Amino acid sequence: MKTTLSIIKADTGSIGGHNRPSEAMLAKAVSEVESAKAKGLLTDARVTFTGDDIALLMVHSKGADNPDIHKLAWDTFVATTAIAKSQGLYGAGQDLLKDAFSGNVRGMGPGSAEIELEERPAEPFIVFAADKCGPGVFNYPLFEGFANPYHNAGLLLAPEMREGFTFTIMDVNNVDADRVITLKVPSDYYDICTLLRDPNHYVIESVTENASGLQAAASSTSRLHNISGKYVGKDDPVAIVRSQKTFPSTGEILSPWALAHFTLGDNRGSHHVAVMPVKQNSIISFFDGPTIVSAAGYCVHEGKLTEAVDLFDQPFWDLIRTKASEKTLSIRAQGFYGPAMAGMDELEYTGVVENLKRLGEKFTIRKK
Ligand code: F6R
Ligand code: MG
Ligand code: MG
Repeated sequence: MKTTLSIIKADTGSIGGHNRPSEAMLAKAVSEVESAKAKGLLTDARVTFTGDDIALLMVHSKGADNPDIHKLAWDTFVATTAIAKSQGLYGAGQDLLKDAFSGNVRGMGPGSAEIELEERPAEPFIVFAADKCGPGVFNYPLFEGFANPYHNAGLLLAPEMREGFTFTIMDVNNVDADRVITLKVPSDYYDICTLLRDPNHYVIESVTENASGLQAAASSTSRLHNISGKYVGKDDPVAIVRSQKTFPSTGEILSPWALAHFTLGDNRGSHHVAVMPVKQNSIISFFDGPTIVSAAGYCVHEGKLTEAVDLFDQPFWDLIRTKASEKTLSIRAQGFYGPAMAGMDELEYTGVVENLKRLGEKFTIRKK
């Protein structure tokens, strides 16, 4: 029997501003997934938070895109929204952009990533959850972790990985339908780079292993402003990555995060900052950020999860957190000038556009 890992995440309200969900909301989410376990819908589940988002990791045997699993997640977020409202929390129901559930959370607000797999004798995997950024935040670390021997030393040292990996990449600006392309490394390396250089437009959706055809990674691709037509909070994506043996090792997958790469997000979804790898259940703070990512390692066996290993809770990452803070402070010192703030097409609030329109009417053409 196959096992499915489904990670579905949403901001349904938070304390202090856009900082973290309340304990009562988290307790409600736990009770919802526990009762789904008791009814036999899930074989196991975990509830965590990253900044103001609640993430549900659900294990089951129903495959990806199963309506019962997606409805469970949606109903859980409706229930945590009700708690947030009853407590007077900020942004209650922020990511629930549609009134009625229609079979799948994709296109409705929550971020989701799912992999259906035949369990290996040992099945290690990592769940990444990011806050205050778009789904393109995973482009750099996923591509480097799978395709670049600077990080994935297994490409050189482990013969079984020599055939490389296939990347399915989505054009997330195409709102009417999923517009995707499938490209392989090593043969299509430069073509993939050409797309991934624009992480607000082209986003890695999945990675499969060329030699076996097995899926190694899945990442969420939803862009909230494309769904709602206006800014309603950043997308705050999730990803699942299988590791070890013929896949990159857990450490190889984590390696690119040591760059603390710049991404678009942070305050008002409109600033470039460095991604900070954080411990599980970390909050949002400085400048409504910085953009954060957490990484939980698990093994799944016969549908049951082990306890999590908090992969960024290790002294090495303290240095990277300091580096991320320094990089963020460095670009923040530039305020709104040039690359510090998003370009016009990615500005998430309308103030600048409206001001430019008003000022445009006051411009005059100088006579020669
Ligand atoms: C970014 C984010 C925050 C808000 C900011 C203003 O994703 O959630 O930076 O954009 O706090 O929030 P509102 O517009 O809700 O007052
Ligand atoms: Mg929020
Ligand atoms: Mg969030």
